[in-house]
Amino acid sequence: MTDTKLTSLLKQMTLDEKVNQLIQLAAFFYEGTTSEGKITGPMEEMGITNEIIHNSGSVLGASGAKEVIAIQDNHLKNNRLGIPLLIMADIVHGYKTIFPVPLAIGCSWDSDLAEKSAEIAALESAVSGIHVTFAPMVDLVRDPRWGRVMETTSEDPFLNSVFARAFVRGFQGTDLKSDKNRVAACVKHFAAYGAPEGGRDYNTVNMSERQLRESYLPAYKAALDEGCEMVMTAFNTVDGIPASGNKELMRDLLREEWGFDGVTISDWGAVKEMVPHGVAANEGEAAFKAIEAGVDIEMMTASYVKNLKSYVHNGTVNEELIDESVLRILKLKDKLGLFENPYRGADKKLEEEIVLSKAHRKTAYELATKSCVLVKNDGVLPLQKSQKVALIGPFAHNGDILGPWSWGGSKEDAVRMDEGFGKKVNSSALFVAQGSDIETGTEEQLEEALAAAKKAEVIVLALGERSDMSGEAGSRADIRLPEIQLNLIAKMKKLNKPMIAVLFNGRPLDLHGVIDEADAVMEAWYPGTEGGKAVADLLYGDVNPSGRLTMSFPYSVGQVPVYYNHFSTGRPKGAPDAQVRYVSQYLDIPNKPLLPFGFGLSYTTFMYSEEKLSSQTMRTDEPITVSVKVTNTGMVTGEEVVQLYVRDLVGEVVRPIKELKAFQKIKLKPGEEKIVTFTLCEEQLRYYHKDLDFTSDAGFFTVFVGPNSEEVAELTFKLI
Ligand code: NOJ
Repeated sequence: MTDTKLTSLLKQMTLDEKVNQLIQLAAFFYEGTTSEGKITGPMEEMGITNEIIHNSGSVLGASGAKEVIAIQDNHLKNNRLGIPLLIMADIVHGYKTIFPVPLAIGCSWDSDLAEKSAEIAALESAVSGIHVTFAPMVDLVRDPRWGRVMETTSEDPFLNSVFARAFVRGFQGTDLKSDKNRVAACVKHFAAYGAPEGGRDYNTVNMSERQLRESYLPAYKAALDEGCEMVMTAFNTVDGIPASGNKELMRDLLREEWGFDGVTISDWGAVKEMVPHGVAANEGEAAFKAIEAGVDIEMMTASYVKNLKSYVHNGTVNEELIDESVLRILKLKDKLGLFENPYRGADKKLEEEIVLSKAHRKTAYELATKSCVLVKNDGVLPLQKSQKVALIGPFAHNGDILGPWSWGGSKEDAVRMDEGFGKKVNSSALFVAQGSDIETGTEEQLEEALAAAKKAEVIVLALGERSDMSGEAGSRADIRLPEIQLNLIAKMKKLNKPMIAVLFNGRPLDLHGVIDEADAVMEAWYPGTEGGKAVADLLYGDVNPSGRLTMSFPYSVGQVPVYYNHFSTGRPKGAPDAQVRYVSQYLDIPNKPLLPFGFGLSYTTFMYSEEKLSSQTMRTDEPITVSVKVTNTGMVTGEEVVQLYVRDLVGEVVRPIKELKAFQKIKLKPGEEKIVTFTLCEEQLRYYHKDLDFTSDAGFFTVFVGPNSEEVAELTFKLI
């Protein structure tokens, strides 16, 4: 449709019809749904009438071609102007083929494969009737207590931006109208949802505008620069005002400064939540603040539909605001081709053929092998197929490896650890025992596990967190493995056999009791549908581990937040003239995390040498290059993530001690060497000054090159 046609459609709509476009309800409200749910119960509580439903603009969480077609059919029968529904759902890291959780995908440092995973997720969703995914989630996180840390890719703004772009490209492709196999993306949660105080979900976020702009906003901006169609508000406050009613954020910054003209949606209930936040006396006031702030769709509460009409009538709200929102929604429907074909990609036959196909599982497998991070190996890995092995722990025979945001996936479709191991060793040489549940256990379980371990030459412990121990509302204050599993490790240790721990979890953990006991540790995160196969292939050396951590693992929870790109202090620990006591430090634990950002092991070794700058000086219009020779000095082919960091030595405001500016993932055969070259330009050295001007400083910079954020070679140049 042309803009004129859309505007003329808008003109035909009554005020009621327009306001109703602005509500989003879950699938169970709709005729034709197959999801369980009582239509009358929630409808009555929320004050939702059939008329509202028939004129609503979008649905949350409907899926499956059959269900979506039925919902759309019924809707079109009842909608006076025949305006189709938008079908939206959370397709975060896969629809039915589940890829590793985003934090794990981050650890692959492979944005091409991340893009491919989003493309597959889009295809599976599109044939199942979904039009928009509530992804990517690109919130920067520095606190592993926050359960949603598994949904993001890293603690670094640059890396998050790289992945934000990749996910948007993968979901959306280049033309949503002609390419029915893609879905529109909705970046979330705008803004700074990843920084709740104390790591407690939904809690207050309090930060300076400088920090917001420097660290938290870049990934959302990157997603939008890539063409992301929608933005979801965050639950939290930003500078004292909940995002969903925050005009400075949603209108002045997002729409005016950044020029975003797509659709915005509140998070679930976030408009009404302005009442308990204490910035609105009632739902009506909340609705007023949200529409003024530029929030187009209200998800799952009815403040808009109950109040906006009377606000227009009594002059409190200008109808133009509502028209603008509705027009944006109509435009999105048009972009997706829904006026021509309201069912879009929904196709039962294709759905059966495509969803969870062999090819999709293959990509899930590949990404899982690249996402696991080997963090310790005292020579016990790779395993030998001739070894008798005991596979022990609550994740030995457990399909709960898909992660908390994988509602479309099924544990039954997941390759479990015992299945992965079953392909490696003869059943007579594999002894599987649970040892304990995730948080509890019995003497019998322990005895059975000890008996299994005694028969084996090597023990592999499959440990971790149940998937609901992270994710939304999944914050934890103690981020160690549950006591019962630490006890299991301690008991196994007494057998004095080589012991490997594989961890399935959604956050960087405090690894004490694991890393000090086991001879090798692999962080497998929630590796997705092909998890057990990928992990087994890595442990047996059929694939060489190449994942690198994208979040620091704290020494203990007392250090949190601990992240590599922190500022220096006036009394930095370890400075040449530092005092013993009066420096910024803990008396009982180190300052440094247990495992640094960028860290990960391989079955081969890499040597870095000949670090060079093309010039000691950089000019604004003359980038320099940084090069390094990387040699595979081990016995097997391996992949290495070569990382480049920069520090501005003297800034107008304090600068991070290191900032990731570039990386390259390379593959080298034994003995092979490669010169890796990065280009560095003035633009990459800019930051927000005192007056929030985004510029660079003339002066000295340190460049760091190496395999992680700690083991680096240093070079210096001057920007003139
Ligand atoms: C609440 C979550 O915060 C958000 O990420 C999600 O997209 C919505 N619920 C819809 O499920």
